[in-house]
Amino acid sequence: MTVDLTAPAASADPYAVFRSLRDTDPVHWSEAHRAWLITRYDDVSDAFRNKAFSNDRVRPVLARRKEPSAASDVLGLLAGWMVVTDPPEHTRLRRLAAGAFKGQRIAVMGEQITAIVDRLLSAFLEGDGAQDLISEVAYPLPAIVIATMLGAPPADRDRFREWSDELALVAFGTGGAARADRHQRALRGLREMDAYFHTLVDHRRRALGDDMLSALMARDGDDLLSDDELVAMCALLLFAGHETTTNSIANATLALLRHPDQLDRLRADPDLIGPAVEELLRFDGPIKVLNRWVVAETEVRGKRISPGERVHLVLASANRDPMRFDDPDTLDLGRNPNPHIAFGKGIHACIGAQLARMETRIAVSRIVSRMPGLALAEEPVWKDVLASRAMDRLVVRHS
Ligand code: HEM
Repeated sequence: MTVDLTAPAASADPYAVFRSLRDTDPVHWSEAHRAWLITRYDDVSDAFRNKAFSNDRVRPVLARRKEPSAASDVLGLLAGWMVVTDPPEHTRLRRLAAGAFKGQRIAVMGEQITAIVDRLLSAFLEGDGAQDLISEVAYPLPAIVIATMLGAPPADRDRFREWSDELALVAFGTGGAARADRHQRALRGLREMDAYFHTLVDHRRRALGDDMLSALMARDGDDLLSDDELVAMCALLLFAGHETTTNSIANATLALLRHPDQLDRLRADPDLIGPAVEELLRFDGPIKVLNRWVVAETEVRGKRISPGERVHLVLASANRDPMRFDDPDTLDLGRNPNPHIAFGKGIHACIGAQLARMETRIAVSRIVSRMPGLALAEEPVWKDVLASRAMDRLVVRHS
């Protein structure tokens, strides 16, 4: 038996597949993915500490390219992302970025985020009948937040959305003629993004503000991020912070609509939003799988894993492991403790987790409170993708 997590049935209900894997073959070689699927909570947690598993996956691809290609410069930008580096490069980039994500700096963004959410929701509420909550609210919100955070002028915000799509397309690869054509267009768009971020960095170097880009320019001893590194960091924040947060808001809303008792519970006790968001991230979080390359011989639950192979850490399965969570398939907004790993663990654990939590809390609270008649208008379809748990559309009525 080989498991394909991108098969339509597995996308529709991955949790049934995960349950069977955890029970019968928790470290499973999937021919379909040409990768090991690790599905139990303890094994995934240990894997985050295992030095045989590397995040350094773009530079080896670049190194194998003999001729410079149209994609080389964009791949060069991706290769500078801390999420695809190992120590010591990772340690340095993460240290230089950490100051910009300090609690206080993020906490003060609450008011701005609430204003953005309310503006999007007011426009949504003007519409009648069935409308897509993803394209109108959950998708634009994080792109606007990132553009605002980096101090980009409001008029440029739409371009952030396009670049985010193009980054996803290039980072997740291509296939087929139509995709190849889109890929070429995406590369052109990303070159434009590169130039845009260089100009933004240049302006900010001359006049520091109180935005995140200015904070990323801070020195640490005698070290600081170069212009190219700052540009790569801007692109990474857009890539890592956009669709994840969109899916977090959309999946959370769908889970509440499917569990009216829990939706009523949240409406009756809005202060429950903190633990509620943690539970919604555990129950149906935005990331299904994280990728690692194997760089040294290792063993997990008796299976020998060799250099050159790939490992998929199945976060969404770990978060439903009955050995870690009581009644894991029950949505319980008051769950406590809730040690979910939707934001990963270890040295690469999400640096934007506080911001993501805040955006999801504000968006879900406002959706629930401003739309008392919220109801599903169309059965959603899950995308057949490996890494994320994502719907194309979430069509709802609000009255
Ligand atoms: C890393 C999840 C939102 C920035 C990660 C990782 C996970 C994750 C699982 C670990 C990747 C790995 O180990 O390979 C999420 C989820 C989000 C979210 C579920 C939304 C609900 C954000 C936001 C930002 C962000 C809003 C910033 C604007 C990053 C960065 C990394 C990262 C820069 C790389 C950290 C490193 O390599 O040290 N995220 N993320 N994320 N995330 Fe998030």
